[in-house]
Amino acid sequence: MTSTKPTVLVTGGAGHIGSQTCKALAASGYLPVAVDNMVYGHEWAVRWGPLEVADILDGDRLDQIILRYKPRAVLHFAAYAYVGESVMDPGKYYRNNVVGSLSLLQAMARHSIDRMVFSSTCATYGNPLHLPIREDHPQAPINPYGASKQMVERIMADFGVAHGLRSTALRYFNAAGADPDGELGEHHDPETHLIPLVLDAASGKRSHIEIYGDDYDTADGTCVRDYIHVADLADAHVLALSRLEGAEPGMRPYNLGNGKGHSVREVIAAAERVTGLTVPTLAGPRRAGDPENLVGDATQALRELGWQPKHADLETIVQHAWRWHQKNSNTHARDAKFA
Ligand SMILES: NC(=O)c1ccc[n+]([C@@H]2O[C@H](COP(=O)([O-])OP(=O)(O)OC[C@H]3O[C@@H](n4cnc5c(N)ncnc54)[C@H](O)[C@@H]3O)[C@@H](O)[C@H]2O)c1
Repeated sequence: MTSTKPTVLVTGGAGHIGSQTCKALAASGYLPVAVDNMVYGHEWAVRWGPLEVADILDGDRLDQIILRYKPRAVLHFAAYAYVGESVMDPGKYYRNNVVGSLSLLQAMARHSIDRMVFSSTCATYGNPLHLPIREDHPQAPINPYGASKQMVERIMADFGVAHGLRSTALRYFNAAGADPDGELGEHHDPETHLIPLVLDAASGKRSHIEIYGDDYDTADGTCVRDYIHVADLADAHVLALSRLEGAEPGMRPYNLGNGKGHSVREVIAAAERVTGLTVPTLAGPRRAGDPENLVGDATQALRELGWQPKHADLETIVQHAWRWHQKNSNTHARDAKFA
């Protein structure tokens, strides 16, 4: 299939951040081809290009898809991303995230596709030694999920030397919010992210939100995270892709965060302001493996990619998530239709 638009493969393109990025790619003149095995993807979220239901572990299927669409680059979101599950079942994570990425990179090498933007994570840093975290902070992941992402970064760098791969690892902090136009939003099952859980508690979908530890050395005792709007993440991918046009072979990492931390209690207060509802809370014990404070320094992405987050304010992030949350019953109906 040929298109006059430059074609980009988007693995995990039916997922939360991948689908938002497909929308941003289409707005910038690309044809995004979503490649997703639909384990966690949603057919309703693929609206800006074709969907190929395929597993990145299946090299033959990747060959077929590449021959069909002739993509010039790959944006690689497909992964499992539940930290707790990765501790309980590391093999599942190393197989899908590392072996899957290797299978994808080998398919790219077979077809001389030399550009990749990869969804990495602040979880590759482990417990921060200093804040805010810059890209040169040591990477010492404390769970198999973070380790799997760090391994892929390493493989990408090695493919740069051996095969001329030009790649970017975008290390996101906490993705949050929803499409500002209300067309897309977070719908993970199970959901583990704080903002959708808080909104569930506000709307009575769950009885309360449990706060994992309120005795940390932070202003109000709860964990602090750097929340980054999903549409700002999507924009960064499009910019990273265009930077690869003239780049030398090699792997370049960029942090994507707002450089501002918000505690769990601040997120809850923002949700109460936005919704006008009360969020019932229950203080529980700390959760193993939760760093106290994670805030990123994204200066390099601002400077080198020309990235400028448009929705950095926590209240805006929560507002967009709430608008999507209120449409969520429709989302369930759509899921049922495609089940
Ligand atoms: N959400 C966050 O806060 C966050 C933070 C840092 C990094 N990330 C990374 O961003 C990426 C996207 O996250 P998300 O929140 O959109 O998750 P998501 O689960 O919504 O999207 C991932 C998609 O990948 C697909 N997939 C998984 N394994 C596959 C395989 N083997 N073959 C084909 N498709 C496969 C799933 O079906 C899903 O649609 C992931 O790589 C994740 O590790 C997310």
